[in-house]
Amino acid sequence: MATLVGALTSSHVPLIGKAIARNLHADPYWKPFFDGYPPAHAWLAGAKPDVAVVIYNDHGLNFFLDKMPTFAVGAAPEYRNADEGWGIPTVPPFQGDLDLSWHLIESLVGEDFDITTCQEMLVDHAFTLPMALFFPGGGAWPVRVVPVCINTVQFPLPSAARCYRLGQAIGRAIGSWESAARVVVVGTGGLSHQLDGTRAGFINKAFDLEFMNKLVTDPGWVTKYSVEDLVELTGTQGIELLMWLAARGALAGDVRRVHANYHVPISNTAAATMVLEPA
Ligand code: DHB
Ligand code: FE
Repeated sequence: MATLVGALTSSHVPLIGKAIARNLHADPYWKPFFDGYPPAHAWLAGAKPDVAVVIYNDHGLNFFLDKMPTFAVGAAPEYRNADEGWGIPTVPPFQGDLDLSWHLIESLVGEDFDITTCQEMLVDHAFTLPMALFFPGGGAWPVRVVPVCINTVQFPLPSAARCYRLGQAIGRAIGSWESAARVVVVGTGGLSHQLDGTRAGFINKAFDLEFMNKLVTDPGWVTKYSVEDLVELTGTQGIELLMWLAARGALAGDVRRVHANYHVPISNTAAATMVLEPA
C-alpha cells in the first residue's frame, strides 16, 4: 500500500508569485516569509514523496460562480496554470497521477462524498504558489499531483466538520491505494484575511495561532465553529483555513509538528506554513 508521509500547509497569496519571479527572498519585506520554507525543503528531502494530493480552493480560474462544486477531484493526465489577471507568471504544467485520482474518486464516492470529477482542470495560484514554495527552483516538478478543490468562494460553503471528514476519507483512500508510492498531502489557504468590504485587511493573530496549535493536538476543535463563525473570526477569505483542516484530517491519529512559521502580513494575509508528520 502507499505511504502517507505527512502534510504540508501554506498560504497562497498571489503577490508571492511576483516575489519569486523577482527573486525577492532576501528583501526585508519578504525574508521572514520565505524563511519559513527551507525547513520544509529539508523535511521533503527525507520524506521523498512521489505524489502530492493538493487540497485548495479555486478562485475563478477553473470554476466560476455559474458552476461551483462543493468538492472536486482532478483526474487529468496533466494540469496547466493560466493567467488569472494578477500579473504573475504562469508555471510549467504538472503531471497527474491517474491511478491515484481514480482510486481517490472511487473511495470518496464509496464513502458517500458527492464530488465533481474533473478530467480537465486548470490550477490557479492556490495550487501553483504553494507548490513553488515547497518545490522551488523552476523546471519540471518533482512530484505527480492530484488536485482536490473545496469551495470557499460561493455560499453555501461546506462546514469545518465536513471538510475534516473529507480529509479523513482522503487519508483512508491513500492508505488503501495499492502502490509503492510515497504521498504527501498539501493544504493551501488562509490564515486570517479579508480582501473586501468594511473589514478589508482584517487579521486575527490570536485565533490563527490557536488554530495552528489545535491542528496538531486537537484538530476537531475548530469543527465547533460554523462557517459564519469562522468568517467572523478569520475574515471572508480566512475561511480558506478549511484546507488546512482537511489536510490535517488525512493524517489519522497523533501527529508531530516538524515545523511552523507565521508572519503578518503578506499583502492582506496572515501568511503561515506548517509541516506535520504521523507521530
Ligand atoms: C490575497 C490572498 C488570497 O488568499 C488570495 O487568494 C488572493 C489575494 C491577498 O492577501 O492579496
Ligand atoms: Fe485565496
